[in-house]
Amino acid sequence: MQRRIFDHLGTPVSEIGLGCWQLGGDFGKTGPQQAEDILRTAVEQDITFFDTADVYGAGESEKFVGSVLNQLGRERFFIASKVGRGSGLYPDNYTEKGVRDCIEASLQRLKIDTLDLIQLHCVPNAVVENAEIFQWLRKLKEEGKIRAFGASVESMDEALSAMKQRDLSSLQIIFNIFRQKPVEEVLEKAHQAGVAIIVRLPLASGLLSGKMSKETQFEEQDHRNFNRDGAAFNVGETFAGLPFEKGVELADQLKAYVPEGYTMAQFSQRWILDHPAVTTIITGASRPQQVKDNAKVSSLAPLSPTLHAQLATFYQQRVVDHIRGPY
Ligand SMILES: NC(=O)c1ccc[n+]([C@@H]2O[C@H](COP(=O)([O-])OP(=O)(O)OC[C@H]3O[C@@H](n4cnc5c(N)ncnc54)[C@H](OP(=O)(O)O)[C@@H]3O)[C@@H](O)[C@H]2O)c1
Repeated sequence: MQRRIFDHLGTPVSEIGLGCWQLGGDFGKTGPQQAEDILRTAVEQDITFFDTADVYGAGESEKFVGSVLNQLGRERFFIASKVGRGSGLYPDNYTEKGVRDCIEASLQRLKIDTLDLIQLHCVPNAVVENAEIFQWLRKLKEEGKIRAFGASVESMDEALSAMKQRDLSSLQIIFNIFRQKPVEEVLEKAHQAGVAIIVRLPLASGLLSGKMSKETQFEEQDHRNFNRDGAAFNVGETFAGLPFEKGVELADQLKAYVPEGYTMAQFSQRWILDHPAVTTIITGASRPQQVKDNAKVSSLAPLSPTLHAQLATFYQQRVVDHIRGPY
């Protein structure tokens, strides 16, 4: 597993990380044993970067992450969580006490003294622009409760707003073959500023593994069932904003581009890693075997420049017009 440097802290992190939203039961099928198996497999695969949030599984995801990683040696791992969507803060009730209480509750669930990174969890852009919230985070940093702070954002405009804070350490963005806008609008600027890029939805919620058909069904409480048109939260978080049937069609067309020796999921993640501004990819997993398959991406050769050019054209000609939601 190759490492990339999380610039502001100078800490090496695995370029393939683990997204831990799936671990708290929000998708319906990962019970406690499965969550532990996924986490232990990630550690066996030399994954060191873990992304969770206070609201995942109403705190259960953080509890699993803390329980397993503490047993295996907390100092080996980079633990990132998020604040801003829980405890009545969202959308317009952000107070210093509220934010502090949420972060302290995360530390308790994780059973750690310091979070490596806290990320604003897609908070409204007015809150980011107002910037008071960053003052509160700076205090928590001084007190040693967090080592760094960043922002998880939906749109490139929000990314640029957050980057106005010179001490912002990271941006978490949706970036994949179906969602290439960050290439032009954010990656280079972030790289220049030493802002770590954490990539979520690398597989567009699984579409880019190529395994789905228009008939694929999801469990009732899985957002791929109830949020496919943005009924509960930003539509971009589900299938990267594509209507499901269109996403399946486009994923089928992409199969022709997958080089020999790569699964489509690996090809999709390799495309992301080929961008040097990317620090880590936090692919989610519903099974340990997926974690193993995804970790292998780090040792696969980069895609050719010709293939990158073809995929840029594919996106421009066939995908971009279908993306919904702030982007
Ligand atoms: N606002 C935010 O900050 C925010 C929002 C969303 C997500 N996140 C973070 O980003 C992480 C990743 O996002 P995501 O999980 O929504 O999207 P994703 O990583 O694109 O998709 C993950 C899903 O793809 C399937 N999968 C994974 N590896 C596979 C493989 N090798 N082959 C076939 N299928 C595979 C699994 O689903 P099935 O097996 O069930 O099909 C898995 O749950 C989350 O865990 C979370 O930590 C943050």
